[in-house]
Amino acid sequence: AALDFLERIERQFHVDDAQLQIIVDQFLKDFEAGLNKNGQALPMVPTYVTHLPDGTEKGTFLALDLGGTNLRVCQVTLLGNQQVEMKQSKYRVSDALKTGEAVDLFNYMADSVDHFLTTTDVAPGAEDEDLYLGLTFSFPVDQTAINKGKLIHWTKGFMATNAIGHDVMQMLQDALDRRHIHVKCAALINDTVGCLLSHAYFSGGCILGAIFGTGTNGAYVEDFTKVTKLPKGAFEGTLPKSMVINIEWGAFDNARKVIPRTIFDNKLDRESINPRFQAYEKCISGMYLGEIVRNILLYLVDNSILFSGYSSKQLNTHYGFDTELMSNIESDKSDEGRTVREILTEKMGIDDQSIGPNDIAIVRWACKIVAGRAAKLSSCAVAAIIHETHCAEGNEDFLDVGVDGSLIAFYPGFEDGLRESLRTLVGESIEKRTRIGLAKDGSGIGAALGALGALKAERARA
Ligand code: BG6
Ligand code: GLC
Repeated sequence: AALDFLERIERQFHVDDAQLQIIVDQFLKDFEAGLNKNGQALPMVPTYVTHLPDGTEKGTFLALDLGGTNLRVCQVTLLGNQQVEMKQSKYRVSDALKTGEAVDLFNYMADSVDHFLTTTDVAPGAEDEDLYLGLTFSFPVDQTAINKGKLIHWTKGFMATNAIGHDVMQMLQDALDRRHIHVKCAALINDTVGCLLSHAYFSGGCILGAIFGTGTNGAYVEDFTKVTKLPKGAFEGTLPKSMVINIEWGAFDNARKVIPRTIFDNKLDRESINPRFQAYEKCISGMYLGEIVRNILLYLVDNSILFSGYSSKQLNTHYGFDTELMSNIESDKSDEGRTVREILTEKMGIDDQSIGPNDIAIVRWACKIVAGRAAKLSSCAVAAIIHETHCAEGNEDFLDVGVDGSLIAFYPGFEDGLRESLRTLVGESIEKRTRIGLAKDGSGIGAALGALGALKAERARA
């Protein structure tokens, strides 16, 4: 009976090939709608980045990165031969800052820049001017220039007040100015854009920059003529040929049309701070996978199938089961599952006595079905970009995809799972040509490349 019960759950998490294809088709429709008009299912944010670097770029810039696991400040020197030098410091963003007044968050960001500048041996900016800074801000913004963008809404557990609708570059510049820090905010980019730019700098090309971390999202180069929603006059002078688009694909399927959902997903969504938003992200990214597993484990406990019907304070705590634990559980390939047992007793507070003979296997199974579905669903976005950009047609070139984020970097089997369903979606020959490469420090280097682009454009206009 227990086996039947588990099988029924597993079936809910299964996504078959036909469903994956339907998801890809919907992505393509949503891309088009989002490029034509604001306020559609996918934001498809025009980023005002008009071309990719080729590795010859030079200059020294500051970069500030908010939105992943850590806040980071770095100084990046682009050496112009596909090489960089980098110094960086990490800072923790407390929950109080994430949920308090936005001005406190931006003050903290400015303080971190100040701390970095006073504790690091920083090279002066170009021609001894102010230092130029690129801000990687990994949230949806409505961008109107390379250095201007208003926050549309928060994602990933942030909810600082008085930020939505405000220009985040201005908020940072104001915080820096209040402290008399001589730093000029030059470019505002998303982490996916940073990933795309930095991967192109190192590899000479890139079809997609994608993040699979706390959140998930992607950016790619689109034909400018297809970005029909941009107002006339959005560009001074000659129109560019292309524009990098920040898809904000975490918002895919908020209408709940194509992704098969389980009761565990619905519970997660209902109890989240942003119900009905970020539907795709909630099935895929590191912030949520552990929570889905926790919901499954509790359901099994309630049905007396797991831990002899006993739970623990930790297991009953909202977001009490971190995705990192899933990753550690799946890394333990031993028969007896000593690490799994340790995690359950030491991290999750489960009484060793209540762990039955099948429980280790059941916990492993729960992690596997949840992460397996995430990897499968992720392949749909990648396949959709391959179709949208026609990059595989009429050539035999490699298709470079730059990726970053804790999930793709560390979760065992995630990339393999993604590749496996990518193969069914785009065919073996295209899948083989797709090179998925970790864009290390993508945000820092990407922000520097963004700032350099902004500076060049400013000088061209002057
Ligand atoms: C980091 C980037 O490497 O990856 C961040 O610098 C990005 O900008 C992050 O948001 C995503 O990963 P995670 O797992 O920290 O959310
Ligand atoms: C969330 C953010 C998006 C970001 C992604 C990855 O989806 O909205 O801007 O790129 O997380 O960090």
